[in-house]
Amino acid sequence: MSNAIGKPLSRVDGRAKVTGEAKYAAEFNTPGLTYGYVVSGTIAKGKINHIDTRAAKSLDGVLEVFTYENRPKVAWFDISYNDQDAPPGSPFRPLYDNKIKYSGQPIALVVAETFELARYAASLVEVTYDVEPHETGLEKHIDRGHKPSTGIASLLKPPPPKPQGDFDKVYHESPVKMRGTYVHAVEHHNPMEMFASTVVYEKNGKLTIYDKTQGVTNSKMYVTQVFGMSNDDVRVISPYMGGGFGSGLRPQYQLFLAVMAARELKRSVRLVLTRQQMFTFGHRPATVQNIALSGTTDGTMNALYHDAHAETSRFEDYTEVVVNWGAMLYPVTNTKYDYKLVDLDTYTPLDMRAPGGVTGFAALEIAVDELAYNMKVDPLDFRLKNYSDRNTAEDLPYSSKELKACFKQGAERFGWSNRPLEPRSMKKDHNLIGWGMATGMWDANQMFASAEAVLTVNGKLRVSSATADIGTGTYTIMTQIAAETLGMPTEDVIFRLGDTEMPFSLISGGSWTAASVGSAVKLVCQDLGKKLFKMAQQMPESPLKKAKLEDIEFADSRIRLKSNPGAGVRYVDIVAANGGKAVTESATALPDLLEQRKYARNTHSAVFVEVMVDEELGSVKVARMVSAIAGGRVLNPKTARNQILGGMVWGLSKALEEETAMDNVYGRFMNHNLAEYHVAVNADIHEFDVIFVDEVDHIVNPLGAKGLGEIGIVGVPAAIANAIFHATGKRVRDLPITLDKLL
Ligand code: MOS
Repeated sequence: MSNAIGKPLSRVDGRAKVTGEAKYAAEFNTPGLTYGYVVSGTIAKGKINHIDTRAAKSLDGVLEVFTYENRPKVAWFDISYNDQDAPPGSPFRPLYDNKIKYSGQPIALVVAETFELARYAASLVEVTYDVEPHETGLEKHIDRGHKPSTGIASLLKPPPPKPQGDFDKVYHESPVKMRGTYVHAVEHHNPMEMFASTVVYEKNGKLTIYDKTQGVTNSKMYVTQVFGMSNDDVRVISPYMGGGFGSGLRPQYQLFLAVMAARELKRSVRLVLTRQQMFTFGHRPATVQNIALSGTTDGTMNALYHDAHAETSRFEDYTEVVVNWGAMLYPVTNTKYDYKLVDLDTYTPLDMRAPGGVTGFAALEIAVDELAYNMKVDPLDFRLKNYSDRNTAEDLPYSSKELKACFKQGAERFGWSNRPLEPRSMKKDHNLIGWGMATGMWDANQMFASAEAVLTVNGKLRVSSATADIGTGTYTIMTQIAAETLGMPTEDVIFRLGDTEMPFSLISGGSWTAASVGSAVKLVCQDLGKKLFKMAQQMPESPLKKAKLEDIEFADSRIRLKSNPGAGVRYVDIVAANGGKAVTESATALPDLLEQRKYARNTHSAVFVEVMVDEELGSVKVARMVSAIAGGRVLNPKTARNQILGGMVWGLSKALEEETAMDNVYGRFMNHNLAEYHVAVNADIHEFDVIFVDEVDHIVNPLGAKGLGEIGIVGVPAAIANAIFHATGKRVRDLPITLDKLL
């Protein structure tokens, strides 16, 4: 056994990434490549009255300017279509007709021999509009919220739970209660890598597409359906991503436009969106939530109400799980929920790291802090008192829940026991100091996934699956899983991903990739091991001849007898005996749904924060943060810690900085650039500490690992807001907590 799992192996793709050897979607070159540039619309609603492309087209080197007037007819315009992450509704169809549905909508695509020329030509396109009144701004239109339509999507994003007990009566009669309204701003995806597709047009009309995506199989499904192409004619490749976070879960309009142009011009096309255009599609929706909690004077919570209004577009019902979490976490039996969408003249929102979870917990865990304060109970004591070993909402036991260990170890590391309960009781110079905490939760799902394993002619192992490494460390942990299963050094294992020629895998999202693809990698390596064992037994004078599967182990790149580790057969010798031919196996790992459905399967976190609030300036510094995580078996403590640190940084960014401001007069997001859309930078980040508590889980998947991509962010905004309350005595329920809200 190589014991590769659990080692802090550095990223196997790290060198390629820092040397520039790793290629991203816009970096693949091909002879005769042409370049696209998108013209974005400037009104929120109405019709294109006239679009004049003559000046642009007259330039030498401009190949075409596509608009709704001359775009080709594609299959999609007649059929209905879904992608792996599509909410109910009808997906936006670029250049479909002259209607404008949101500000920033693509209205023309210029294709030219160079990027600079395409960009210049785009500036010459003249457009006049018939403007119609638009509706933007969630709070302004909150009264016309509607119940979301449900579809296949509700399997993963279930509607609010049914009410339990009698919330109204219990709340009314309880001695301690709170009620609050929590408002969240819109946030936009700002991964380092912009959306890009390089579409290589092959002789016979086949396409090889380098796409920025969290799922090559999803992009391929999109292209084949939308353009009515056969499976054999489309290959999508995406070996690296400059940040996913949910932004790449759905195909974006640059993919449609680049493929359309390549097919029409019979040329290869590259299309990259600008940073400004990254603000013209999916975003974390603005949300308004109401929470009411009540309890008894001994510190027990007895009733919970949670509702949310979130924005969506006119054409799709984007839904998140925002209000469901309360009784999944706390043993509260009188509950009531509501969740409504308000359709606006904006683009459909999109999943963003822990979609719904971070929103719901930011409200819920501030509300819990408020209730604890109304009871005069320490917020950590409150959570220990209201601890549950069952998911009360669904009446299911947890497959594992070591949240208590998170509370204990996190509090110890942070020094929570020294905390005075009273707000405004700690001060240093002109800074008020506050300590706050919160809990987080996320799902631990397993999806089906396939993988292939090849023992190569030189006795090395090559494993592949059409999944993605969205920056999370997939390459590295899959290498470790394969190495461990077949008892090989990690240097002798190569894992490949991001190509639709590889075995099928779904989009990489929902924190399910480690569990899903990891299980497939483990299974295919086990199957390959069995195959090799049979081959080894047939070799002349094999010491394994009489052995049974339970008598052997895979170690030192050999199959050897447990009873006599000296006796074994090397993998290289098996390949040699096979006539020097590689040995291949493939497998699909399916989740054991019958068993898994008997349990609630979640990750948990406890987050502790120290803030320093400048009394005169209202500025907030997060001086320390400790996150204790219960995430099952940790496959690689280094990449796992990276995941949680990233979540903590983004949680801070969400709590204090990120906000896309809508100008309701123009119906347009105004700060659509990194100068005015603030994200946390190095100077904002101080002492961050991550703890992984031991958690054994035999239910979630054969690896016992839970995904860590999203749990890192969930509890952070509430913990910061609660620390700010403790520092200042001000309860801010409106994120981000910018300094104007503290003065
Ligand atoms: Mo994550 S928001 O499912 O990429």
